[in-house]
Amino acid sequence: MKTKRDFLRIWDLSSKEITFLIERAIELKSGIDANKCPLIGKSIGLLFEKASTRTRVSMEVAIYQLGAQSIYMSQKEMQIGRGETIHDTAKVLSRYLDAVVIRTFSHMNLIEFASHSSIPVINGLSDIHHPCQALADLMTILEKKGHLKSIRLAYLGDGNNVANSLIEAASVMGMDLSIACPKGCEPNPDVFKKANSFKKSRITILKDPGEATHKADAVYTDVWVSMGQEKDAPRKKRKFKNYQLNADLLSNAKKDAIVLHCMPAHRGEEITDDVIDGPQSVVFDQAENRLHIQKALLEFFLT
Ligand code: CP
Ligand code: NVA
Repeated sequence: MKTKRDFLRIWDLSSKEITFLIERAIELKSGIDANKCPLIGKSIGLLFEKASTRTRVSMEVAIYQLGAQSIYMSQKEMQIGRGETIHDTAKVLSRYLDAVVIRTFSHMNLIEFASHSSIPVINGLSDIHHPCQALADLMTILEKKGHLKSIRLAYLGDGNNVANSLIEAASVMGMDLSIACPKGCEPNPDVFKKANSFKKSRITILKDPGEATHKADAVYTDVWVSMGQEKDAPRKKRKFKNYQLNADLLSNAKKDAIVLHCMPAHRGEEITDDVIDGPQSVVFDQAENRLHIQKALLEFFLT
């Protein structure tokens, strides 16, 4: 029997495995193996505490296309939402399911769930990481730029889950990453420190968004107010007002730079309409790639 593996953060995969997954995702996207159903007879749960459009739908479609069944479980409708323990839920779901994708507020809860579960646990977004998104981001950059090594990626805005996963992705794939954020909104310090210790890439945290975007090959942004932080919205919006990805900031990047956003976008806040809808934007390809890379990931973990 295959040993169970979890995918809670990008560093749960090696650079070799990430390269393999991206290549496989590109193959799957081309339509090769479209009629193969390697996961026939399997059941995969989606346990979500937060809203989702892309992660939920791309996972459900990926699971269907691989021949398996998906079961969506909103935390509110589960006994875990009424106080059943993570321990008991993880053990019970392990008896029914072949894998579970979890979207949660607390990364610590995700770790606890994975430690009690005998099936693979995949992080569909936590407060600290969004690794499935980062895999799709890498795939998109590779498709558009032809390579990952030495790519200059700029990230503007909040040092959130998306930023932390990008740091991990850049550190293993050899991309240089400049993050521009206001004081107090930096990414996770442990992730940042460890990423730089690999010495495969240069990861910097800056205050000046113009410096971060200077000669960038790709410019990325995400919402200023992540799910669960709504109470802090007015303060955060004030802090981030100079970090908006607009035509002016984009003009600092290389002429052929691509624009990335994990979406959902708050148009007029972290990104302007002309940029997200402009010729450099690849956000819809990026969203589509969630489907292909997750198919590659599920196939890799479950066959
Ligand atoms: N990018 C992303 O994870 O989107 P959803 O919140 O819609 O799943
Ligand atoms: N940082 C955002 C990402 C949404 C996909 C959030 O956590 O809400």
